[in-house]
Amino acid sequence: MIEAIDGLENVIAAHTLLSEVDGDAGRLVIRGHSLADLAGVRAFEWTMRLLWEGHFEDLPDDLAAPLGRARAEAFEEVAALDTHLSDMTTMEIVRALLARLADGDALSTALRLAAAPAVFTAAAVRAQKGQAPIAPDVRLGHAADLLRMLRGAPASDAEARALDTYLVTVIDHGLNASTFAARVVASTHAGLASAVIAGLCALKGPLHGGAPGPVIEMLNGVTAPEEARAWLEGALARGDRLMGFGHRVYRVRDPRADALKAAVKRLLTAQKVPPGRLRLAEAVESAALTILAERKPGRSLATNVEFYTALLLEALGLPPEAFTCTFAAGRAAGWIAHAREQVATGRLIRPQSRYVGPRAID
Ligand code: ACO
Repeated sequence: MIEAIDGLENVIAAHTLLSEVDGDAGRLVIRGHSLADLAGVRAFEWTMRLLWEGHFEDLPDDLAAPLGRARAEAFEEVAALDTHLSDMTTMEIVRALLARLADGDALSTALRLAAAPAVFTAAAVRAQKGQAPIAPDVRLGHAADLLRMLRGAPASDAEARALDTYLVTVIDHGLNASTFAARVVASTHAGLASAVIAGLCALKGPLHGGAPGPVIEMLNGVTAPEEARAWLEGALARGDRLMGFGHRVYRVRDPRADALKAAVKRLLTAQKVPPGRLRLAEAVESAALTILAERKPGRSLATNVEFYTALLLEALGLPPEAFTCTFAAGRAAGWIAHAREQVATGRLIRPQSRYVGPRAID
């Protein structure tokens, strides 16, 4: 019998043309393009099309307008956001609204599912503050419209570019937990909505996409750079993990951390905001890396995507409760591409478990 591998570490469970994560070199390639050639260079809609190419017969050359129209269609579901739902967390609201979308495999279904997390996140945040939702502006880019729907005022070009860079940076990343969940569901031919909801549910956890909110708690807890080490050691002594550090695949720094740190710097410069928060974050990062290297010398634990995600989304004025859903606003496009690829080229995903319970008494 094949050896059981906890957490499926290093197990190859799919063949994909979509993205490659090289954990030793710290490199991410999305369909033949390195992250550095995409983040801050190509628009989210362009990168989404790159992933979707070949997975839909009727794919238009430019997805900006169809995605805008899909946001308007998704917004129709926001009417269901009642007072009962608005008492829930942002993630719970977005999950509930996503579940209202019909399953299927058509491009129109895919566009609606890719558009919906941005629309629902903005509406959820506003509902939690007792504010009415704001309808999408179909002419805007996805990132600019997310910020506008959230605030009720247009975003600056620098802000829209920063969020666009973020959405591109997180759009796809090999067989991470949420993409695997989406592929498992897709492998049963359940449909795209089911696959996307599965992805969202896996993303929610703090060991995956739920980490950046706790990163803000960490930065708020450390009031001055020189206090970083003591604060982090206190957290570890309580049995906590240091959020924004460590990765199943990367043994070096996650390249997405650098892309997002550069985006934060650009945004703060454009906003003329003093870089005090960034300096504090750098001190926390440096102390965390030192402590983790001391405590886990055999396991290289480096900065992951979530650390600078937290700084970037905070600088954009997003509340920490909305960070994971904003991640989903980018990653949904990747889940959909993987779901389509799984159906087209994969088999039903059905591993086995090893029974370690009591034997039947004959
Ligand atoms: N803080 C403290 N200790 C850590 C951390 C961390 N951030 N990361 C790993 N370790 C420890 C583990 O506790 C484990 O210790 P042990 O051997 O004494 O049990 C050891 O290092 C090895 O780590 P694993 O548990 O094998 O790491 P795994 O590959 O299972 O998990 C994970 C990776 C979940 C990302 C982990 O590093 C972690 O919890 N990080 C903090 C949460 C986080 O930032 N998540 C976002 C990841 S990026 C993303 O999903 C988008």
